[in-house]
Amino acid sequence: MSTATPALRLENIVKTFPGVRALDGVSFSVLPGEVHALMGENGAGKSTLMKVLGGIYQPDGGEIIVSEQKVVMRSPLEAKHKGIVFIHQELSLAKELSVAENIYLGELPHNRFGLVDWQHLFEKTDAILQRLKVGFDARTRVGDLSIANQQMVEIARALTHEAKAVIFDEPTASLTDAEKVVLFEVIEDLKSHGVGIIYISHRMEEIFKMTDRITVLRDGQYRGTLDTAQTTEEDITQLMIGRKLDLTRNAVDHEFGAAALEVENLSCGTLYTDISFSVREGEVVGFYGLVGAGRTEIAETLFGLRTPTAGKILLNGREVHIESPVDAIELGISLVPENRKEQGLVLGMNCRDNMTLPQVDALVSGPFVKDSAEIEIFGHYRDKLEIKTPSWKQLAGNLSGGNQQKIVIGKWLSMHPKVLIVDEPTRGIDVGSKSEIHKLIRDLASQGYAIIVISSEMPEILHVSDRIVAMYSGRIMRTFTAQEVTEDSLIQAISGLGESEKVA
Ligand SMILES: Nc1ncnc2c1ncn2[C@@H]1O[C@H](COP(=O)(O)OP(=O)(O)OP(=O)(O)O)[C@@H](O)[C@H]1O
Ligand SMILES: [Mg+2]
Repeated sequence: MSTATPALRLENIVKTFPGVRALDGVSFSVLPGEVHALMGENGAGKSTLMKVLGGIYQPDGGEIIVSEQKVVMRSPLEAKHKGIVFIHQELSLAKELSVAENIYLGELPHNRFGLVDWQHLFEKTDAILQRLKVGFDARTRVGDLSIANQQMVEIARALTHEAKAVIFDEPTASLTDAEKVVLFEVIEDLKSHGVGIIYISHRMEEIFKMTDRITVLRDGQYRGTLDTAQTTEEDITQLMIGRKLDLTRNAVDHEFGAAALEVENLSCGTLYTDISFSVREGEVVGFYGLVGAGRTEIAETLFGLRTPTAGKILLNGREVHIESPVDAIELGISLVPENRKEQGLVLGMNCRDNMTLPQVDALVSGPFVKDSAEIEIFGHYRDKLEIKTPSWKQLAGNLSGGNQQKIVIGKWLSMHPKVLIVDEPTRGIDVGSKSEIHKLIRDLASQGYAIIVISSEMPEILHVSDRIVAMYSGRIMRTFTAQEVTEDSLIQAISGLGESEKVA
């Protein structure tokens, strides 16, 4: 493989932003028919390197070489014409336009009167969609598609020109297991056609399953390239964060208090049925299940975003009616949502204001006092969550994907809720910060917070929970204590095997 001519090479790429040297002389290459992973902590420079390759950013130095020829990528369209296709971390489609218009944006076919040749456009598009075996057509409005299908539209774009390389920037972050299978098939297909694939992900099991080689960046610098088959998770982590991970969990070192939250026979239409559980002060209850099992919907109900159709919610033994997030916040319930970018962050606002947004009124009044109190809160969580940003003044939209997520987590922690619900807390977060967030959850529990963690990652659930609620298709199948749970019994419970828990 090493003797083949790379599909493309990046040499000594330098890119700086005000206060940040995002790329410091990085070199990288991908071979035809290879899946090459790009790994590194949040803010290491992965997306930036790919945006340079994709013509979105102009580098301050270095060269891009495609098929042994030096090229300049002045725009995304030019990069596409040179065979580089970019499937973004944040999807970048025009939601109001049709699938066909999105795929051929900037190069719509015209007839001899200079008008868009719609028929030709739709035919061309449908031919590509058929190859991808998707269940929608060229005329569908992109805004009506699921995230997974929107991603398929981006992939379809890849197939309009002879692609030399396709970049996937965290493609699986919001996909269900079934959708992932389709994505992996598409990647295998591209690979067998000799396309070079660049694959960015924080998920180790995907890296080992899908990739041939792994290049690691750290703080904008190249750290090395590994052969996946000859590498362990520890090797990669060591290269990424420069130290070994501390994975020990502080055993239950504190007593639980009274029940902070009790849920009795709660139902919400067809979303979930007859849900009963409790969370004590100081306890972490993990909700495990497949995507779509109803976990997020329960969280949304507790946060006042959905109205239950039956059942009761009690806080500290008293029944409550939570009709809106404002009610929830007043009662001391916080939710760190699953889809943080859409639900949790104002991209055009600076980091500090994003973090202190929900408590502006609560902070001491007077402009100066408030300002410094806010900066202090921001500084505290920046250190605790290791948020990488040159200053609190940086716009949230300029942070790396993972660091944006940390801002949202900090925002809800800083409100000191009694009941904290975190939905997929480490999605998109690098391994080092992930273990910090797990520690933080355990720490908060030992301070008396009642915590619900929703996660689709078994190691995460096993690591942080005192009790685990296993859900399948809107129902609780079984509740385990940390002592009794095994991986097998958990898998069995969430696949709908065995009977659901009988609730008196
Ligand atoms: N447009 C921008 N303006 C200012 N700084 C930026 C901009 N884009 C990226 N950065 C900074 O460059 C650095 C690298 O960011 P990048 O998005 O490449 O990280 P990443 O490796 O993709 O991280 P993640 O895993 O969190 O997605 C970060 O410090 C980020 O804040
Ligand atoms: Mg990124």
